[in-house]
Amino acid sequence: MKKFENLDQLKSWSKENGFVYPSSEIYGGFAAVYDYGHYGILLKNNIQKAWEKSMVQERNDVYQLDSGIFMHAKTWVTSGHVASFNDVLVEDKKTHKRYRADHLVEEFFEKKGDKVDMDKKTPDEIKAIISENNIKSPEGNELTEPRNFNLMVKTNMGTTDNTMTEENTVYARAETCQGIYLEYKNFVDTMRVKLPFGIAQVGKAFRNEIVARQFIFRTREFEQMEMQYFLSPKIMDEKFEQWKEARMKWHIDVLGINPDNLRFKKHEKLAHYASAAYDIEYNFNTLGGFKELEGIHARGDWDLSRHQEFSGVKLDYFDEETRERFIPHIMETSVGLNRLVMMVLEESYSQEDVTNSKGETDTRVVLKIKKELAPIKVAILPLSKKPELQAKSLGVQSLIKNDYMTQYDETASIGKRYRRQDEIGTPYCITVDFDTLADNAVTVRDRDTMVQERIKIEEIASYIKDKFSK
Ligand code: GAP
Repeated sequence: MKKFENLDQLKSWSKENGFVYPSSEIYGGFAAVYDYGHYGILLKNNIQKAWEKSMVQERNDVYQLDSGIFMHAKTWVTSGHVASFNDVLVEDKKTHKRYRADHLVEEFFEKKGDKVDMDKKTPDEIKAIISENNIKSPEGNELTEPRNFNLMVKTNMGTTDNTMTEENTVYARAETCQGIYLEYKNFVDTMRVKLPFGIAQVGKAFRNEIVARQFIFRTREFEQMEMQYFLSPKIMDEKFEQWKEARMKWHIDVLGINPDNLRFKKHEKLAHYASAAYDIEYNFNTLGGFKELEGIHARGDWDLSRHQEFSGVKLDYFDEETRERFIPHIMETSVGLNRLVMMVLEESYSQEDVTNSKGETDTRVVLKIKKELAPIKVAILPLSKKPELQAKSLGVQSLIKNDYMTQYDETASIGKRYRRQDEIGTPYCITVDFDTLADNAVTVRDRDTMVQERIKIEEIASYIKDKFSK
């Protein structure tokens, strides 16, 4: 089974098949922002719904929030982002191309078959490594001095002119969890919640990423699905282990990822307030190996303590059972939705050799995606554009489209239409042919086995329902 071999192949496949388009193409493009086409958004929504189901619907202790992208600017000073949410930047002295210094150093050592831990290295430390090893840009040129580059996206609000002053500066949120911290008190006051409980949120985040040449893996505008679990420090270790296992299981069971392609990576260097941090990584063929998908962090009481200190509003919790008052600790799970889309596409894309109707060997591209995640669940294909077949097909579609995302397609030959649906991962194709007019039955083709079954129209809705319930 052949996979995507490189990013260019994945990018052009995603565009050609209506999943993901580069932003602002007619103006020459806009770096590190991507637009989701019809199939891309359906897939992304399905992944998001699956996350919300396991995070909220199937539990009794996690609630949902949709907070603003813009928050009081003090939020980001308090959280430390304004002062230190930085990457270390270097520039090629000749081409003026910008690079993340830690990535250049990592790649340099990887090429030599060595590993280097670049976690939280300062510009001075990186400068020393670059000069000791005489590291150059990928084009072979000298690099500028490494310097910190803040990743916050800044704008202004509430002014009649466009001058940016300290008073009107606002930040597009760099992570969705800050909105959760600011609303924690409202949840305690209005939702009758008791510790431990979680607040989950899905939404856009913005980062002025230095290098963004990794398709939807690293973009300047992206979506996070974050859950902050508020708890007593006494149960942190136990809950951390439970969430860590639950999150790994979700990638395997719900997204259908082969466990061999997933792994945990322990953070050796922790922030001063954290007691544990792991990443879940996926083995991206197009990025040359395991890369971060999700972070699971035990963050202590740092976040709420800081917001309490800087806002002057009490954010502590009184535990009626133990009669103790304390600031809740936080266990976080944070995953990038766009990275999940990329992972699911990579994991599901396959090329198979098949024998066509003339007995020749042919290649079939199939997106072997889990049925629940497929953008289109059922395609309705009249064998020809004859009005009586069109009418019958639309009638069949109306029996299914209330419950499942369907697509009606009458263009091109039936063989080409099957291939098109295989390539976007549609689990079932229903063909309406001339016999249908006589026997009131249709042919249902299974994406994976390509086996075809004749089913009575009166049974088609329950047949499809049955297939999706397995
Ligand atoms: N609140 C914790 C936090 O934001 P993070 O490791 O910076 O932690 C969490 O981000 C997740 O968000 C990452 O594991 C990744 O999946 C996703 N993510 C981060 N930066 C991204 C970017 N520039 N483009 C796409 N996804 C990104």
